[in-house]
Amino acid sequence: MTLSPTDAAKRNAALRALEFVRPGMTIGLGTGSTAAHFVVALGVEVQAGLAVRAVATSIATYNQAASLGIPLLDPNDIDTLDLAVDGADEVDRQHHLIKGGGGALLREKIIAAAAHEFVVIVDAAKMKPQLGSFPLPVEVTPFGAALTTKAVQAVLRGQNLKADTVRMRLAPDGAPFISDGGNYILDCACGLIAAPDAVAGALSAVPGVVEHGLFIAMADIVIVGDETGAAVARVD
Ligand code: 5RP
Repeated sequence: MTLSPTDAAKRNAALRALEFVRPGMTIGLGTGSTAAHFVVALGVEVQAGLAVRAVATSIATYNQAASLGIPLLDPNDIDTLDLAVDGADEVDRQHHLIKGGGGALLREKIIAAAAHEFVVIVDAAKMKPQLGSFPLPVEVTPFGAALTTKAVQAVLRGQNLKADTVRMRLAPDGAPFISDGGNYILDCACGLIAAPDAVAGALSAVPGVVEHGLFIAMADIVIVGDETGAAVARVD
């Protein structure tokens, strides 16, 4: 099958992430098209005899990994996580991330934070001088979502960001998109984010915000793929 240039870049990044996998590891599996390339590659290794176990960050990834024979654990049944491998929507020069384009940001952040090493795999187009071209996903509880949306907008205004472009994510049938955790997602096209750590802190303080897609200082390794290969950078 011929891959598009973007898909080839995603696959090249995903394949390099295998370098960080060791027998006996428990591995967090991310969500999205780049993470799916990693799951496929890991599945090949497992079928060839590699003994690893995994936890999934979404129902979609769980189903994909299960279909490939990757042994899966409930996150409540593990004490430690050696590695997490996941994609991202944007990566800035400090290696802060925007994630959540696939709506799995809550589970992705729990798994990334728990992992001893968090490996981010992206195609080169995801690398940005500043975060914010991609609308920032913010997961909110359905209860009081309209009030929480106003509070999120106030936070954005307070950070000198655009607030009138906050939109509830919708499913194809026009109903609100529901995350695997049963929550709504606000997509905040707030413009370039000058101070992502300040925005992250302010959003986390809003009652009703379950999680936001700013992953600040979480990446340990960033692998950037292009059509010909991938470059690995360790984050200091
Ligand atoms: C899902 C995510 C994904 O990692 C992100 O959206 C990137 O997706 P893709 O690899 O398909 O470009 O955060 O919630």
